[in-house]
Amino acid sequence: SELEMFVDELPHLPKILGFDIVSGVPGSKSLEIGMFEKKWKFHRDLPPTPVYAFGVSKRTATVPGPTIEALYGIDTYVTWQNHLPSKHILPWDRTIVTATPTNKTGIPTTVHLHGGMVEPQSDGFANSWFTAGFREKGSTWTKETSHYDNRQQPGNLWYHDHAMGLTRINILAGLFGAYIIRHPKSEAPLRLPSGDEFDRPLIVFDRSFSTNGSIYLNRVGDNPSIHPHWRPEYFGNTIIVNGKAWPRMTVRRRKYRFRVLNASNARFFRFFFTNGLGFTHVGSDSVYLNEPVVTNEIFLAPSEIADVVVDFSKSKNNTVILANDAPYPYPVGDSVDEANSKVMKFIILRRLEVDTSRVAKKLMRYPLPDLSGASRTRYITMYEYRSATGEPTHLYLNGKSFEAPVTEIPKVGTTEEWNVINLTEDNHPLHIHLGLFAAVEQTELVNATEFKECMKRMNDAIRCQISKYAGGKRIEVPAQEKGWKNVFKMKPGFVTKIFVRFSYVHSNASYAFDATAEPGYVYHCHFKRDYTSVMIVPTGIGAAIG
Ligand code: C2O
Repeated sequence: SELEMFVDELPHLPKILGFDIVSGVPGSKSLEIGMFEKKWKFHRDLPPTPVYAFGVSKRTATVPGPTIEALYGIDTYVTWQNHLPSKHILPWDRTIVTATPTNKTGIPTTVHLHGGMVEPQSDGFANSWFTAGFREKGSTWTKETSHYDNRQQPGNLWYHDHAMGLTRINILAGLFGAYIIRHPKSEAPLRLPSGDEFDRPLIVFDRSFSTNGSIYLNRVGDNPSIHPHWRPEYFGNTIIVNGKAWPRMTVRRRKYRFRVLNASNARFFRFFFTNGLGFTHVGSDSVYLNEPVVTNEIFLAPSEIADVVVDFSKSKNNTVILANDAPYPYPVGDSVDEANSKVMKFIILRRLEVDTSRVAKKLMRYPLPDLSGASRTRYITMYEYRSATGEPTHLYLNGKSFEAPVTEIPKVGTTEEWNVINLTEDNHPLHIHLGLFAAVEQTELVNATEFKECMKRMNDAIRCQISKYAGGKRIEVPAQEKGWKNVFKMKPGFVTKIFVRFSYVHSNASYAFDATAEPGYVYHCHFKRDYTSVMIVPTGIGAAIG
């Protein structure tokens, strides 16, 4: 890419409050947020790019969309309005399983609040899509307004399109944004850097652009005779933060809190500062850690979130680059190139600031589940098939496609042990809707090919004697990822043990989900190819899917 780096300022994303204050008391709020086609300047020297953007109006819509700030325990209602015209700005492959309006006009969208513990009707189920004006709807669509009751730990969520077969390109077009749940009573005493200046989301993603400014992706599919446009993975050569390519940010010589989200479709990021400045992790995905963890890097698969404090008063230099050294595809790709090895630049003002923020030694106390208390053990095997007809590789979970009947029906209030066996070459970020989980350990498979052969014949990890094969080296989960998460990196050739909890108990409230309602919930790998194919398996948790 020829674009000059670090010429645009890091944008402040618009903020929308998900609550009202009426005579000093917070109360619920109803929002209407639209999806608009408009043009977006990703870089000073790049012509405006056609995008899909979230916003309360077309004029104020942004990429990423506005940051929604909700309050713990206060209901936020959002009517997501689709204002998109009928022709997609990116190649929509209708030969894969995809949302299909009957009269073939309109772009299906649905919005999932990622990390949210919400009723299934508001979870953005892939078949709950709708087109402009709700003219056409998918089979599981139930209502226009999503209800988020925000009764979960304070932390970092994000919202994004989740429509069947279109998530990949709808997100590439710009349909995503940050959502923060705050719990002032328990967070204020932590005295972390706060306020719009010192507490900022950093939403990082990759795109490529044509010379006319439009988003570039190869229109020719991986196997065009079967799927003319479908390319499961996307890698762009330009790194964007909060809507600008390789931006810069001028900071004071003090602490900042950054909520760093990898919003890429397939790119992993391993961020580090070129001068060795460290990160203090205070949260991982949507949940605070019990104690802060200091590292020199942030390693994020697509859709993972790191919540970190950076203390610029510790910087030896007046400028520092946030860099990336994760190869792509991860981990089999050879290297990073110059363009995607840089992310953004910080210019640090010289004057030392009075900084009353701090990072407490203890953050929140969210005990991990008792490892012996699991009510069930499940084995989830990821492997890829290439059919005899040369059909491109599809990734299945336990040999099942999205269309298969419901596979897991956990009981609300229980904890389960899941062993995720990754027989592919790629590291897959597994995401489970509704259930938070804790990663326990990763164990390498020995004789993985033999096990894989057996799985192809029998598709049953127990009968294929998984315990015999899961005998290689063990890897500890990094300290900053040991808390409650909603995405975890499934290392290729390893079995990853996670404990999933299907309910949530906060220190001063307890909440059980109506997990028996339609359409249920899904779990899936968070490469956006999932929705475009047969890669995800719905787990209508406690329910059949419609
Ligand atoms: Cu981030 Cu099923 O989604």
